[in-house]
Amino acid sequence: MPTMKAARIDRFGPIGHIALREIERPAPGPGEVLVRVHASGVGPWDAWIRTGQSTRVPAESLPVTLGSDLSGVVEAIGPGVVSVAVGDEVFGVTNPWFNGANAEFALAQASMIARKPARLGHVAAASMPVIAVTAWQVLAEYGGLEAGQRVLVLGAAGNVGAYAVQLARSLGATVVALTRPHESQRVRDLGAAEAIGPEDLEAESALADIVIDTVGEALQQRALAALRPGAILVSAVSPPDAALAAARHARAVFFIVEVTTERLTRIADMAERGELVPNVGIVLPLGEIHRAHEMLDGLRERPTGKIVLSG
Ligand SMILES: NC(=O)c1ccc[n+]([C@@H]2O[C@H](COP(=O)([O-])OP(=O)(O)OC[C@H]3O[C@@H](n4cnc5c(N)ncnc54)[C@H](OP(=O)(O)O)[C@@H]3O)[C@@H](O)[C@H]2O)c1
Repeated sequence: MPTMKAARIDRFGPIGHIALREIERPAPGPGEVLVRVHASGVGPWDAWIRTGQSTRVPAESLPVTLGSDLSGVVEAIGPGVVSVAVGDEVFGVTNPWFNGANAEFALAQASMIARKPARLGHVAAASMPVIAVTAWQVLAEYGGLEAGQRVLVLGAAGNVGAYAVQLARSLGATVVALTRPHESQRVRDLGAAEAIGPEDLEAESALADIVIDTVGEALQQRALAALRPGAILVSAVSPPDAALAAARHARAVFFIVEVTTERLTRIADMAERGELVPNVGIVLPLGEIHRAHEMLDGLRERPTGKIVLSG
């Protein structure tokens, strides 16, 4: 029986509950693909799953392998899969429950992966799926962005924010980036026309057609209270006060990302053209996943950019 290494949890709890185990290599079922994982991502939602705070992985599902973002090569396909073939390089997300990727092999739903952009290596490709698709949905689908509009991105130097800046710019928007002072030049390099601090939030919210919120809490509330009529605030963080927005004749929505082949293919095409540049903060071997979770938990300094496991 072929086996593989996988970063597993048997029960919810602290980082020490993650164990690198040798387990049976799974076989793909209908609509599934077995991917030989070259790189996989680590994001805040992995810590929520580990600690039992995510509704995506209830206690009955344990034990599970952590991780959702991946890039690798198709090793085997299940019944009914026609979109990819054995040997294809793919990237994407494992499944709607966001688990299974931090391993040597992973099952992925064929509808949640796409061809990896040839321009990118596996580490860069694994850094993209959830956060880049979030930025796409926030702008194009929920925000309804049109060329010529003015977009204010809260948290523009972050993982989602940096993609939102690049995407909005390449879709023809004027981008204003709210960021920390030391990130001002980087967000300009990504395509922002202006970099501002929280002191300018109200003035810029009053000018924006779309406000993208990747920070939440007080900044979200302050932006809402300053929206101009007809504007929309889209939050990836938490449900905004829709009544407050309505009082200003504006709208406010929250959404949860849905990674699909179609959306990933758009992202891949833009990455191929150089319009979207990923930002990998640190690459760790799978065996050092504990260090990655220490960064998520704030126990260790977290670099700007995505945490990726490879090797
Ligand atoms: N709804 C969904 O489906 C979905 C999908 C993906 C992510 N998310 C959520 O989206 C949020 C952003 O995720 P992410 O991965 O992009 O996180 P991130 O990389 O930590 O980005 C957040 C950014 O906001 C900055 N920031 C925070 N407070 C600020 C302030 N007062 N002034 C200026 N900048 C400030 C942070 O800077 P510092 O690091 O210096 O604080 C960081 O650069 C998270 O809440 C995440 O859970 C939601």
